[in-house]
Amino acid sequence: MQTDAKIFIAGHKGLVGSAVVRKLKDSGYSNLILRTRQELDLFDTVAVKDFFQSEKPDYVIDSAARVGGIKANMTYPAEFLYENLVIQNNLIWEAKNSGVKNFLFLGSSCIYPRDSPQPMKEEYFSNGAPEPTNEAYAYAKIAGMKLCEYIYDEYGLNYTSCMPTNIYGENDDFNPETSHVIPSLIRRMHEAKVAGSAEVVIWGTGVSRREFLHVDDLADAIVWQLSKYSDKQFLNIGTGEDISIRELALMIKELVGYKGELVFDATKPDGMPKKLLDVSRLHNAGWHHSISFDTGIKKTYDWYLKNIAKNGVVKK
Ligand SMILES: NC(=O)c1ccc[n+]([C@@H]2O[C@H](COP(=O)([O-])OP(=O)(O)OC[C@H]3O[C@@H](n4cnc5c(N)ncnc54)[C@H](OP(=O)(O)O)[C@@H]3O)[C@@H](O)[C@H]2O)c1
Repeated sequence: MQTDAKIFIAGHKGLVGSAVVRKLKDSGYSNLILRTRQELDLFDTVAVKDFFQSEKPDYVIDSAARVGGIKANMTYPAEFLYENLVIQNNLIWEAKNSGVKNFLFLGSSCIYPRDSPQPMKEEYFSNGAPEPTNEAYAYAKIAGMKLCEYIYDEYGLNYTSCMPTNIYGENDDFNPETSHVIPSLIRRMHEAKVAGSAEVVIWGTGVSRREFLHVDDLADAIVWQLSKYSDKQFLNIGTGEDISIRELALMIKELVGYKGELVFDATKPDGMPKKLLDVSRLHNAGWHHSISFDTGIKKTYDWYLKNIAKNGVVKK
């Protein structure tokens, strides 16, 4: 990918999109096309069509989606399926119609079948029923990855996907209604510390295990993939290491300096018992993560303190 390539980053205000923009700028890419939701509503097929016809980017990175934690996924499955299908169909199809040659779609490790053997290899994709708590999101993502594969074969265009594990880091969503586990635990323990609360209740038993990748590592992998890897076969993007939710909660408790009790509510769902990517294809292709979990979590808490909990008080 040339540094003067015209690159459209859809969803550039989000966790992943904003990190991709930082990475591209730091790497000398200067011809970035960015549109906020107000400037280009990705639900609007005609607007997306007009945008591609006039801009004709060389590359599209699709980091726009309706994303959320287990609570949001379970509460709004219809919206998760419908909105993601509309956004990705508009982007993929109108990009293809306007002659865009390179498109990268983001899958997610949570869309692998619930009963996948662990660690999860790329060949297990779409090979069984997804985890029920994020089924709607999974079906939308599977459709997006399949559409890219079909376009790759039928039109000979470089429409590919990547399959990132759980992502965390600066610019994450700390809203308690929609956040993923790391920002949720950081915020709740920070608020409990400030309020002097005796306990923090955590959904599930704490035994399920998850893998986490810092968002700057994902951005690095995305730019690497666009520059160095163009196979139809998507790659898992992760660290290949996991941690239990209980271990994660204790780590965040220590980091935040919260002195109260952690109570695990076993009446709430755990989600998939284990979700770990097999990253051997990724390593063999030449990419490896570089940000340790300790470092990444500290950076994320620092960002939270500076941007959301200024002077210890949560602003939004
Ligand atoms: N976060 C993770 O752990 C994770 C893991 C694996 C894969 N991924 C994938 O990475 C991608 C990005 O995730 P993320 O965590 O960065 O999500 P995010 O922070 O919620 O960002 C999503 C972005 O999409 C934009 N968007 C949504 N609907 C739109 C619309 N109708 N028109 C225009 N823009 C719209 C949002 O705009 P607003 O700012 O206006 O809402 C936001 O900027 C997703 O495809 C997700 O599946 C994420």
